[in-house]
Amino acid sequence: MSEYRAVKGTKDIFPDEITSWKYIEGVIHRVVGLYGFQEIRTPVFEYTDLFQRSIGSTTDIVGKEMFSFRPEPDGRSVTLRPEMTAGVMRAFLQANLASVSPVHKLYYIAELFRKERPQAGRQRQFSQFGAEMLGVSSPEAVAEVIDMMMQVFTSLGVSGLRLRINTLGDFDDRVRYREALRAYLEPHSGLLDGPSRERLEKNPLRILDSKNPDIQSVIADAPKLHDFLNPSAKAEFDQVLLYLDQKSIEYVIDPLLVRGLDYYCHTAFEVVSSELGAQDAIGGGGRYDGLARELGSKSDIPAVGFAVGMERLLIAMEKQGLLRHIVPPGPKVYIILQNKELKIHALSACDLLRRSGIRTEMDLCGRSMKAQMREANRQHADYALFVGSSEVGSQTFGFKNLRTSGQDFLSIREVIARLASSTKHVDVPDGGHD
Ligand code: HAM
Repeated sequence: MSEYRAVKGTKDIFPDEITSWKYIEGVIHRVVGLYGFQEIRTPVFEYTDLFQRSIGSTTDIVGKEMFSFRPEPDGRSVTLRPEMTAGVMRAFLQANLASVSPVHKLYYIAELFRKERPQAGRQRQFSQFGAEMLGVSSPEAVAEVIDMMMQVFTSLGVSGLRLRINTLGDFDDRVRYREALRAYLEPHSGLLDGPSRERLEKNPLRILDSKNPDIQSVIADAPKLHDFLNPSAKAEFDQVLLYLDQKSIEYVIDPLLVRGLDYYCHTAFEVVSSELGAQDAIGGGGRYDGLARELGSKSDIPAVGFAVGMERLLIAMEKQGLLRHIVPPGPKVYIILQNKELKIHALSACDLLRRSGIRTEMDLCGRSMKAQMREANRQHADYALFVGSSEVGSQTFGFKNLRTSGQDFLSIREVIARLASSTKHVDVPDGGHD
């Protein structure tokens, strides 16, 4: 074994897992297409201040988890993206997409980087599928985005999910609440743990999210954000809930849900899975109406979006047995060479089949016929094509259906004609879903 190992917190994804990834990605592309979302790809690194400005300098992500470096010794710092929302908004503003159309619906499946302590469901390089609706964040827009996220879960058959939802009010509501919360917590600061004491100064709302039972008992009697909401924020939230009811989406209102990124306002939500243990959040999102101005926009760009952790989604699906039926697509035809001298004929049959769009495999290392048959079965080939001296002479080849064991003698042209119609359906890139 090599002395080189993958970096802690990163993972290799091998072909059999890729099949599951592609299947899930295929479902995502299909479902988001139904809602009119279009894919966006942004650079893997951005200037560090973009993230400081948008996610917030007091958050865990910016404070401790960013992989930052300077490409030039005295140049501007850049950071491997820890999330996508900031980069998508940056791209949207930079390309002035608002001048093309008032509303843009964008989605992504992308790799992200956070310097967190690795554990099950928490990696340093991970992937998210997410969507951002830019230009509108009305209650209908919020409900549409949540509906789309839940539709992806439903289409994949994932169960045991819980949607937690809350409203954070507008900026002024939060400022008033932050002060009230700090005033309540300060006399109790002796009861807080290290991270919560740090947050008391910079970002007391995050203390509400603490999983520490001692802290939870301190905050049980804390003032409630809902009591600080202005009437229109309350009405908007009620409207979101009404739309969710209409769509029969179940949710739990959780007044303690604040989320770990600073750009949120009004509705915030998270989906947790009972399959995930400590890192139980499979996805989350919310409105971020202030982000565009934070990044220098002269006009308001209301926005709402979410992101789902792909690895956590895979863990949940694996535990629920939803990936068992997904198998890597095997070759349609495996060529079995009976005699090494005929290799040139086998190679040309192989070329002909591949050029006709038929997935074809053959042995390249001179293995026995028995070993070739074993390999054809291991790769779940549908057919075996036998190339032997008599076949080459007559130009008709033994063509065996490995599922039914039925065998015919066909010319290559006949093989191609027979497989052509079925191949169209087999060769989809996200294949393997039988
Ligand atoms: P987030 O809650 O930081 O939100 O991440 C969304 C999801 O990414 C989490 O629920 C989790 O499933 C997954 N995730 C986060 N960190 C890790 C990690 N270290 N390892 C594995 N999975 C992880 C955001 O990133 C926001 N940008 C979501 C959003 C989009 N809000 C509005 N638009």
